[in-house]
Amino acid sequence: MSDPHADLALSKLEILEKKNAEALLGGGQARIDAQHAKGKLTARERLDLLMDPGSFEEIGKFVMHRSKDFGLDKEYYLGDGVVTGYGTVNGRLVYVFSQDFTVLGGSLSETHAEKIVKIMDLAMKNGAPVIGLNDSGGARIQEGVVSLGGYADIFYKNTLASGVVPQISAIMGPCAGGAVYSPAITDFIMMVENTSYMFVTGPNVVKTVTHETVTSEELGGASTHSTKSGVTHFTAANEVACIQQIKQLLSYMPQNCEDTAPIYPYEQQGEELRPELDTIIPENPNQPYDIREVITGIIDTDSFMEVHQNFAENIVVGFARLGGRSIGIVGNQPAVLAGVLDINASTKAARFVRFCDSFNIPLLVLEDVPGFLPGTDQEWRGIITNGAKLLYAFCEATVPRITVITRKAYGGAYDVMNSKHIGADMNYAWPTAEIAVMGAKGAAEIIFKREIAQAEDPEAKLQEKVDDYQRKFATPYRAAHRGFVDEVIVPSQTRQKLIRAFKMLENKVDKLPRKKHGNIPL
Ligand code: HXC
Repeated sequence: MSDPHADLALSKLEILEKKNAEALLGGGQARIDAQHAKGKLTARERLDLLMDPGSFEEIGKFVMHRSKDFGLDKEYYLGDGVVTGYGTVNGRLVYVFSQDFTVLGGSLSETHAEKIVKIMDLAMKNGAPVIGLNDSGGARIQEGVVSLGGYADIFYKNTLASGVVPQISAIMGPCAGGAVYSPAITDFIMMVENTSYMFVTGPNVVKTVTHETVTSEELGGASTHSTKSGVTHFTAANEVACIQQIKQLLSYMPQNCEDTAPIYPYEQQGEELRPELDTIIPENPNQPYDIREVITGIIDTDSFMEVHQNFAENIVVGFARLGGRSIGIVGNQPAVLAGVLDINASTKAARFVRFCDSFNIPLLVLEDVPGFLPGTDQEWRGIITNGAKLLYAFCEATVPRITVITRKAYGGAYDVMNSKHIGADMNYAWPTAEIAVMGAKGAAEIIFKREIAQAEDPEAKLQEKVDDYQRKFATPYRAAHRGFVDEVIVPSQTRQKLIRAFKMLENKVDKLPRKKHGNIPL
């Protein structure tokens, strides 16, 4: 950094101008060129794409680090490797930080952390989302423990802000070491394919400790985290697409936990009938169909934004709009593993339900579930504890909650998937619904075991019992007689019914018993 004060010929305004110009250059043109050569944008270019034109106001542009060790006394950069501030995205206030890899690799110093904490404090006091654009070599190695302390300060603020304001993390470069834990605490993570990665320890440490040979991409790239670990909720082909996704995601959210999501203009289309839904369920109850087609048949055109699209695909979760209003959708996916609930599906859906409940986004559940996945693998890895997360998340949710049972609602999964018993407000079933303890064949084999074994023709006896069970229980009517289902509806009328029911529930007030906080089974 040059010292503009040394040039006595400059006026005070010119000194300011010179400092501003220097801050905009970050780590200098050569490093900006290197950043571009890697196919990456700079911190400021990303902000230009994210924020409404002319709306960004920077805070802490001239902040500098305080370190003197390992040559840092000769290396000062205005802003210290992170651009922080506020502005608007589609007219709504957001707070933002964008790490500048051209300054000491975007590494996090004590002051860099202070800048991030400052905007998080402002975001919490003023009730607006925080967006982090991450591109950093991690803790600034020359600073030692003060940079670790800086990370911890951020983790602490992330946790305090959780459930107060939405927090979104875009990973646009390296994110290594403990640095991954700030994004992990935030509500949503987005990763850019091929230029971003996240891991606790990199490939070299992995090689030393476990003798595995793995590339950064395999260990913690966007594809790994969107399919294997579920760490990232979204991936994007490039940074421009990633920033578009941030804007889209924000459009479904309120500004804070006291607010409601924006309502989009919507004109009612007559009776809102969707005839294609009347024939969407196959004749054969074991034949799959794609729950996304049901979703499309219910929501406002092109309004679905799927979360965790490639992880635990046996459950589909995402945001949509219904009659212009934001809703969160959780749907069993019969096209993958018959829509069974397993560990990953349960934790994926539980986290989504909790986000929606934190931020007043009503929930729609589309249910077609044959039960929890049996087997040693699931039991030994804790399907009991993990399945309980989803149960707990629904039980404690106080937002408007509606379920539509399209086909199977079997066993414990019937209870878990937003049943009336655990607080759902309205439960509908299609005439194709089968609500029972288990499938007809399994049930008949257990309760008529002796009778079937003693029959002259056991096969025929079994079939007779299966048919009987099917007739009695594989329908929505037993549940409707009890009031566990509020109405059996014609599928083509689902959209209209849901628009009306969510409108009816829009002023719902429901409170949990007073407590410090619950103890969700983690
Ligand atoms: C200081 C750093 C730095 C760091 C990179 N730089 N990481 N400076 N502290 N952590 C500097 C480099 O010296 C270099 O400076 C510039 O940033 C660009 O780095 P390159 O290595 O040239 O870039 P590239 O080849 O793209 O590699 C990027 C990288 C690599 C993969 C991030 O730099 C790297 O491995 N860095 C160290 C990562 C790390 O181990 N961090 C600590 C993690 S532990 P010049 O002057 O040449 O431009 C951690 C603990 C957090 O973060 C704990 C929280 C609980």
